[in-house]
Amino acid sequence: MTTTVQLPDDPIISLVGAGTIGMAWAVVFSTGGMRVKLYDSQPGALETTLDKARARLGDLARHGLIPQDGGVEDAMALIEPVTDLGEALDGASLIQENVPEFVDLKRDLLAQVAELAPENCAIASSTSFIEPSRIFDHVKGRERCLVLHPGNPPFLIRVVEVVPAPFTSPEAVEIGAGLMARAGMAPVYVNKEVEGFVLNRLQGALLREAYCLVRDGVTSVEDIDRIVRDGLGFRWSLIGPFESVDLGTRGGIAGHAERMGPSYERQGAERGQHDPWTPDLVEKVVAARRAILPLDKWEERGAWRDEGLMRLLRTKRDINNG
Ligand SMILES: NC(=O)c1ccc[n+]([C@@H]2O[C@H](COP(=O)([O-])OP(=O)(O)OC[C@H]3O[C@@H](n4cnc5c(N)ncnc54)[C@H](O)[C@@H]3O)[C@@H](O)[C@H]2O)c1
Repeated sequence: MTTTVQLPDDPIISLVGAGTIGMAWAVVFSTGGMRVKLYDSQPGALETTLDKARARLGDLARHGLIPQDGGVEDAMALIEPVTDLGEALDGASLIQENVPEFVDLKRDLLAQVAELAPENCAIASSTSFIEPSRIFDHVKGRERCLVLHPGNPPFLIRVVEVVPAPFTSPEAVEIGAGLMARAGMAPVYVNKEVEGFVLNRLQGALLREAYCLVRDGVTSVEDIDRIVRDGLGFRWSLIGPFESVDLGTRGGIAGHAERMGPSYERQGAERGQHDPWTPDLVEKVVAARRAILPLDKWEERGAWRDEGLMRLLRTKRDINNG
């Protein structure tokens, strides 16, 4: 993405809502060297959050993920608890809302936030499922607003979904994604508003089938977790689902779609979801994969995957053996 907006050298990130995600964002931005203002409407919440942030920072330092020496205190010094909303938003470059997942609560609070926010800041919500149009359509200066959705906890799951509404300005997207990238998050751009965005839609697809398999007595809850943990998810922690089947079939993903496509089509239809992989769609996916990995590099990448999985397997065994 080409940048046209000059990101501030010393941005302030205002976090509104200091529960699980607000605390985790404080860890992300402070370890990214940015000043953080932390606000919550519950008296006492800020103190607890600061204690939790300190503990998580200590864990990260123990694993060498932030400097061992002074890393915790340097980060903590950047986090300022604030009990007044206006003061919390003052001077912000990015405001990140993290209150519970209720549309009306978010709509009311975000309207208030937009009234008090500096003119040129970006205003984002961490919402897991709600399209930005549904929570920002009514607020002042709504072109500043978007969703920046993390996985949990964002200081370990280092991707963030960037979801603009049709009314969001490119500048707001650049500020939000740019500051996230500076804090070490990988922005993933979601081009169209859809409920659940990408991460939770993918998770939803897997969970829908998992529930059906349990309901139909095909397998158990425990074995579904095992098959994802030690099978699909193990592989996906290194390469994604498209790359998995691309590397898993000689001839790449085109061969996979040709040989396995009809079976997947029948499985979908059995669940009332008839979305065949049409030739045009397969061609688009094949072209994207071949641009990333030419077929003459296929063997080499397969060997890289195996090497990576061996190292991961060793780490997993260490973890499981305590
Ligand atoms: N927990 C997750 O796994 C996860 C992952 C990604 C995104 N999210 C999203 O992040 C958001 C927050 O989730 P969470 O798990 O941190 O919730 P949480 O319940 O842990 O924290 C919410 C915080 O918001 C505060 N709050 C409530 N009303 C407020 C108000 N009017 N003003 C200021 N603070 C207020 C609460 O006191 C609480 O501290 C939700 O939209 C959720 O969908 C959660």
